[in-house]
Amino acid sequence: MAQHPFLWGAATSAHQVEGNNIHNDWWQWERQQSDRIQSGLASDHYRRFREDFILARELGHTAHRFSIEWSRLEPAPGQWNERAMVHYREVLQELRRQGLVPVVTLHHFTLPVWAAAAGGWENPQTIAAFVRYTERVAEQLGELAQMWITINEPVVYVLEAYWHKRWPPQQRSIRRMWRVFRNLAQAHRLSYLALHKRRPGARVGVAKHWLAVKPARPTRRTDRVAAIVTDWGFNRFFYRLTRGTHDFIGVNYYQAVERRWDIWPWRWIAAVWDGLRSELEWPIRPEGLEQVLLSLRAWRLPIYVTENGVADASDQLRPDFIREHLRAVERAQAAGADVRGYFHWSLLDNFEWAEGFTPRFGLVAVDFATQARRPRPSAYVLRAIIEAAQRR
Ligand code: BGC
Repeated sequence: MAQHPFLWGAATSAHQVEGNNIHNDWWQWERQQSDRIQSGLASDHYRRFREDFILARELGHTAHRFSIEWSRLEPAPGQWNERAMVHYREVLQELRRQGLVPVVTLHHFTLPVWAAAAGGWENPQTIAAFVRYTERVAEQLGELAQMWITINEPVVYVLEAYWHKRWPPQQRSIRRMWRVFRNLAQAHRLSYLALHKRRPGARVGVAKHWLAVKPARPTRRTDRVAAIVTDWGFNRFFYRLTRGTHDFIGVNYYQAVERRWDIWPWRWIAAVWDGLRSELEWPIRPEGLEQVLLSLRAWRLPIYVTENGVADASDQLRPDFIREHLRAVERAQAAGADVRGYFHWSLLDNFEWAEGFTPRFGLVAVDFATQARRPRPSAYVLRAIIEAAQRR
């Protein structure tokens, strides 16, 4: 067996699949939105996790990424819900029983209501509270998992919540965005250290959204500058603030962009993409994943693709999407990128944040009226790839 068996699986996040996460800021915010944006029972995974993990195993998976919902464990400051802790212990035990290596995320976009009310990530006390939550989880669940992700997509979070006003708390302020960004970096650093202190064998990182960036017109200096600025600001800056606290690089890959900057008349835009697009209109660019993975070789850390997927209810795009992105991973590996795992987003159809339930990212389709699960054909495409890789 290889020294590091490649991890094959899918990813989910608590609020998107569990259902009834009544103690977090998203739930509270959803109450003020239209019917379309109500997570409600979501995919009822809180109750159905066992059957979902059995399905994942039957689909050939060897690992699974999920998130723990902080607001369930600590619904009021300092008050810990032991039943919720028992639940996540059972989740971890069930994963192991099914032969799925757990990858545990501690923060995937949601905050307990009390933390959000106190200013959320703008308030440094949220950092301290997050570290206490990390410690508690490390102590009580730490022996059941080795791989940990402190924070999912910090840059996407600050942009959506503090610039585009699409997610709670729907702000637009550079000052607040910057404060939240810095606090998330500090929260990661301290959470990393807390995990290592309590669990010396832990492997800890973040799941970072990576954009594959290129200049639209490579001969134009302005476009090259625009590409560097985007790459640096969106992809790399968070790592600068958190240097030395990553045991691996988690890559969430969805998109590639060609940057164009005209000084007069002033234009800072992305070149138009006229190729394939997902149901969310996101361009489908597998070669971008190769580009990102290759650019990470220099960091000399193991890499995991912690998310990669496509909104595609009819499953017309997903089979080729999976094949092409995994070919991109293979090419990157052949060229020296130390990629050790691939997690498809997502195992199940789920609550896609401000988009509600319309975008379907699941390898497994969920009928939200009955909660029936039905693997899409692409789930078997992925399984065949996994089985072929295991035979090699
Ligand atoms: C997030 C997921 C989300 C997915 C698809 C990622 O940015 O981590 O929570 O569902 O993208 O939009």
